[in-house]
Amino acid sequence: MTLLLSVLSGVSAVLAFALAAIANQTGSITPLSASEVAMYRPYTYFAATGYCGPSYTRSWSCGVNCEGNPDFQPVDAGGDGEVVQYWFLGYSPSLERVIVAHEGTQIQDIVSIASDVSIIQRPLDPALFPGIPSSVRVHCGFADEQAKTATLILAAVNTTLAKYGTSTVTVVGHSLGGAIALLDAVYLQLHLPPSVKITAVTYGLPRVGNQGFADYVDAKFAGSLAEGE
Ligand SMILES: *[C@@H]1O[C@H](CO)[C@@H](O)[C@H](O)[C@H]1NC(C)=O
Ligand SMILES: *[C@@H]1O[C@H](CO)[C@@H](O)[C@H](O)[C@H]1NC(C)=O
Repeated sequence: MTLLLSVLSGVSAVLAFALAAIANQTGSITPLSASEVAMYRPYTYFAATGYCGPSYTRSWSCGVNCEGNPDFQPVDAGGDGEVVQYWFLGYSPSLERVIVAHEGTQIQDIVSIASDVSIIQRPLDPALFPGIPSSVRVHCGFADEQAKTATLILAAVNTTLAKYGTSTVTVVGHSLGGAIALLDAVYLQLHLPPSVKITAVTYGLPRVGNQGFADYVDAKFAGSLAEGE
C-alpha cells in the first residue's frame, strides 16, 4: 500500500513495484536473478506510467516513469481515470514491440474500487471473445473494464503493428490494470493472426477468473506471462 501510494503521489515513483519473482505456467514461483530483474525494468516503468493520464502519455511527458523508457513512441492514449481506467499504447524501439498499458486502482477512486469488489463471475462476451470455452468465467468488474476499451485497443494495436513492422505485443498493468491487461492478452490473441506474439507482464495481479479461465490462459500463453508484486 505504501508503495502504491508513492506512485499515486507522483513523488519518486521509480520502480514503485518490482518484479522479484516470476510465476510460470505450472504455477511454480521462480525467483529472478539480478539480470532478469533488469530485463523487466522497462515494463515496470510502463506499468507505473499507466497511472498517468492521456495528456501526459500522448506527449510522453509524465516525468520519471516516462523517462525510464526514453525511446518510447506513443501512438494513442485514453481513459478519464474514473469511468474508464487510463490506458496508453505505442511502440518501443529498444524492446521491438508494441506496448499496451492500463491504469490500476486509485485508492480515492470509488468507481475502480467498485470494479475490484464486483466479484461475481460471468462468461466472457462471445462478441468480444469468439469461441472461448463456456467453462471460462471472469469477475464481472474486470470483464466490464476490459470491454470498455477492447475494440479501440485492438484497432490501434493492429495499425501500430503494421506501422512499425513488428509482430510482438506486450500488455502491462498493475492491480486492476494487470487484470485488464491479462484479458486484453486473451482478447488480442483471438483477433490477431497467430504470427503475432502476445505477452503480458503484470504486477499485483488479482484473481481474474475461475479455474477454467486459469486453464485457458495456461494453455494459450505458455511461457508468455510474467507476474510480479
Ligand atoms: C517452472 O518453475 C519450476 C520451479 O522453479 C521449474 O522447475 C520449471 O522448470 C519451470 N517451468 C518452466 C516451463 O519454466
Ligand atoms: C488489421 O489490419 C489489416 C490491414 O492492415 C486488416 O486487414 C485486418 O482486418 C485488421 N485486423 C483487425 C483485427 O482489425
